[in-house]
Amino acid sequence: MADGSFPEIARIDARAKVTGAPIYAADRRSETPMHAVFAVSTIAKGRLTQLDVARAEAVPGVRLVLTHRGTGALEQGGFLLSGGFAFQSFMPLMSDAIAYRGQPIAMVVADTLEAAMHAASLVDAAYSEEAFASSIASPDAGIIAQAESPLPQQLFGDTVAGDAVAAFEAAAVTVDAAYRSPPQHQNPMELVATYAEWDGDDLIIHEGTQNAGALKFGVAQILGVAPERVTVISPQAGGGFGQKNSLQMQTAFVAWAARELGAPVKMVVPRYQLFGNASFRPESTHRVRLGADAAGRLTSVLYDVDAQSSRHDLFPLDYANAAARLYGIPNFRGHQRIVQTDVQTPGYMRAPFEHLAAFALDTAVDEIAERLGRDPVEYRMAHDTDTDPVTGLPLSSRFLNACLSRGAEMFGWSARTPEPGSMRAGDGQLIGLGVGCGCYKAATAAAIATLRLTEDGRVSVSVGVHEMGQGIRTALANAVGQILGIEPTRVDAVIGDTRGAHQHLTAGSWGTATAVPAAVEAAEKLLEELGADPLAALAERGLDSYEVRVERRPAGQPEQMAGALHQGRPAPWGPVYDEFVAYSYVAHFVEVRIEPTTRRIRVPRVVSVVDCGSVVSPRTAPSQVRGGVAWGIGAALREASEVDPRYGGFLNADIAEYVVPVNADVGRTEVAFIDRPDPRLNASGLKGLGEVVMTGVAAAIANATWHATGRRLRDLPIRVEHLL
Ligand code: MOS
Repeated sequence: MADGSFPEIARIDARAKVTGAPIYAADRRSETPMHAVFAVSTIAKGRLTQLDVARAEAVPGVRLVLTHRGTGALEQGGFLLSGGFAFQSFMPLMSDAIAYRGQPIAMVVADTLEAAMHAASLVDAAYSEEAFASSIASPDAGIIAQAESPLPQQLFGDTVAGDAVAAFEAAAVTVDAAYRSPPQHQNPMELVATYAEWDGDDLIIHEGTQNAGALKFGVAQILGVAPERVTVISPQAGGGFGQKNSLQMQTAFVAWAARELGAPVKMVVPRYQLFGNASFRPESTHRVRLGADAAGRLTSVLYDVDAQSSRHDLFPLDYANAAARLYGIPNFRGHQRIVQTDVQTPGYMRAPFEHLAAFALDTAVDEIAERLGRDPVEYRMAHDTDTDPVTGLPLSSRFLNACLSRGAEMFGWSARTPEPGSMRAGDGQLIGLGVGCGCYKAATAAAIATLRLTEDGRVSVSVGVHEMGQGIRTALANAVGQILGIEPTRVDAVIGDTRGAHQHLTAGSWGTATAVPAAVEAAEKLLEELGADPLAALAERGLDSYEVRVERRPAGQPEQMAGALHQGRPAPWGPVYDEFVAYSYVAHFVEVRIEPTTRRIRVPRVVSVVDCGSVVSPRTAPSQVRGGVAWGIGAALREASEVDPRYGGFLNADIAEYVVPVNADVGRTEVAFIDRPDPRLNASGLKGLGEVVMTGVAAAIANATWHATGRRLRDLPIRVEHLL
């Protein structure tokens, strides 16, 4: 393991997953089932002038209809990014205010799902309507420069290195282009769902989440019960992608109803409501100005971002930090503005900032390389750096050039002819070959891990992290098994469960680099205390089990911040540490084929090479990359949440009309890892993987599309009609 390589083992939960063994919140059944359904607002902004639930209450089987008239005893849950627990500060059903289309106005609970749905459709509402902004282009949108917002500036202020304005003015060659992305929704397979039951004064919540701690403490706050009375159980989420990273709008109301009715209550938020009821990727525009000197060397980047937020929260933007870190360009100025619109608060959707920062910056880099007559791969490699351009600190590790050269070789880049439209397949389709790079911060969070060895030779490790499909149990079992010299199948991970360790937010690609080093440290402590043969030591001492506990805090993180995880608050740190800056990197090589008449775009082949530090789970890691590439194909060619300025909200609220890539849309994805440890970040040498893999895919596709057609397309998604 000293060389950073971990053995390849089978996925620990593979059999369970393919045989359908895991029970998700929506799968739970009880003897006395109660189903909750929201009725939602059909206007985009205003007030309820009338809310009549008599017809709903008259439906046979209806047990309860909750409206804002019945929530007087409840407290607010608060916005996760300003000391609260929920994805937004606005809580529906607490007043007559309508903040966005799709906002809940009533919750019906009935003893069949059909009765609840029918009753919800019979809730009679009348509204007074107000002018609203449905997108960042709306005349009613409000614009707030991030620098003027009350958000913590050390985290979310402008990003500045050198003097980019002066350098741009002095540049010999420039590019000035604007790139756009529509809003998009995560659409994880598992819908947002809560199953709540009470055992006396104790509340148990089953919900697929990335943040069981926020659910525990947030629901306790809203209901006014002691947090010790609330247990949240989330052994796995069926996809999170940022949509499940905080308290949802239904959780506390479902728990409240379960207490009122003395029976378990379940709500599965249907997909058509999810588009207005959970966070999403905000709409954004990105103006990039690049300047190069007479020798072609990039000297300056001016990067201006406008991104959508809600009216009630300033969702902080972090695009510029990623853009400043992709290449060694000495002068950088990133300026970000929050645009207030009348929607639910947007949030973090896989590589939330980094995917679009990479799309904008690395398409612009391709454009300037083209203007300079330089090879796109060689040009990127000429802008490597060992030093962080923003802070001047050394980078903990950076193998982006190794990703580029390895990828170019695997892909066969040398066979590319540079002229756009110069390559054709035997069937006449236009071939485009493109490259795109990305980076993602290597953050880590404070964590507590307990590890228990029992006399049957099994090890149970309890740590703050959630399984969302990425395979964290396998990574934990592999690492702990290595240290203790036992079969990974003998390691059980207790995660996403507030009965074990504190469960703080798993997001920002810090899950593995947080949980694995903590579990490894616990395993090493066990060996220290029991010796090299811990099982024999157990028998010798006549013990049936032995437990150790460690607390880990990233270097430089203030103690009070790490302490936040005890209250269910997130405690990430990085990528700027005391003595270095840490990022993961990726290079993607994409082949597109474009049918010359219909302009149908296909992506038959992608090669992705990743620098994520050590690869702790060689079996599951390539799947993470393939998933990220599929997401990149979706972002580049398919996905858009459609907005009609007359109505607000999001109209294509199902996956028939919100188009995502299916298997037939995703060709061969070849994956390689540099697999060099980053020992400065943690002893296990891990950076992060889950999000960096999506960054740069959209740029590579746009660059390949240019190579096939000679057309620079800067608005996502790129569709057939844009190439006609
Ligand atoms: Mo992830 S978008 O940081 O949950």
